[in-house]
Amino acid sequence: MSAKSAEEQTRIPRSLAIIMDGNGRWARKRGLGRIKGHEHGITAVRESVEECARLGLEALTLYAFSEENWSRPKQEISLLMKLLERFLVEERPTLQKNNVRLVHAGRIERLAPKVRALLDESIAETATNTGMVLCLAISYGSRAELVDAMRAIARRVASGELQADDIEEKTISAHLYQPDLPDPDLLIRTADEMRLSNFLLWQISYTELYVTSVCWPDFRKEHLQEAFAAYAARVRKFGAVLP
Ligand code: FPP
Repeated sequence: MSAKSAEEQTRIPRSLAIIMDGNGRWARKRGLGRIKGHEHGITAVRESVEECARLGLEALTLYAFSEENWSRPKQEISLLMKLLERFLVEERPTLQKNNVRLVHAGRIERLAPKVRALLDESIAETATNTGMVLCLAISYGSRAELVDAMRAIARRVASGELQADDIEEKTISAHLYQPDLPDPDLLIRTADEMRLSNFLLWQISYTELYVTSVCWPDFRKEHLQEAFAAYAARVRKFGAVLP
């Protein structure tokens, strides 16, 4: 791993989120089954994790499986879960080598016990790593996350621990799945889709959006660098007027 250059340091977001899209299209163009696209997507995940860690990002959140993805054909779900199991075992050395700490966002209770166990093991094994946090959004939906947060807040109000009038934006942020992660500075979506697809809706209020036509299995560090260069050129005003 080479150290990041001064030029690179000026253009990197602190926190990045990616909607990894286009695996199916990538496979179809090659006359392959959809799962082959997901399989090749693992290489793009590995390369993105390594490059983001090398550049010193604090957090990378990947949309690996949405709440809505549970409605895909049973066979695709089962192959995606197998792939996730493989990823959780085979990528541990990559996470360790890059000092990456794994965390999870989503309704974990919907996952099969074996996937949950492997996820818990990887999370425990990387818990003391001090570098980038890799957040895998699995069985994740932003509306579900907000529902879960509202329920937790309502329980605190019902118990008298919290007053309704004391609920602030930061109260809601504090009840999300990963409250300590910084909001994304940049959101990348691959395969040319201009949608948010129920991803991090609360967290991306002031996030810069970047869409590329590259399908996820083809996404490499050059594409990441292109996105970071575009991000560096953006003027972020957060609703204010610049002096
Ligand atoms: C969207 O492509 C991608 C997904 C629903 C799954 C993302 C999964 C991976 C990249 C591989 C596994 C990742 C991990 C971290 C284990 P799509 O199938 O919707 O593509 P399409 O729109 O072209 O059909």
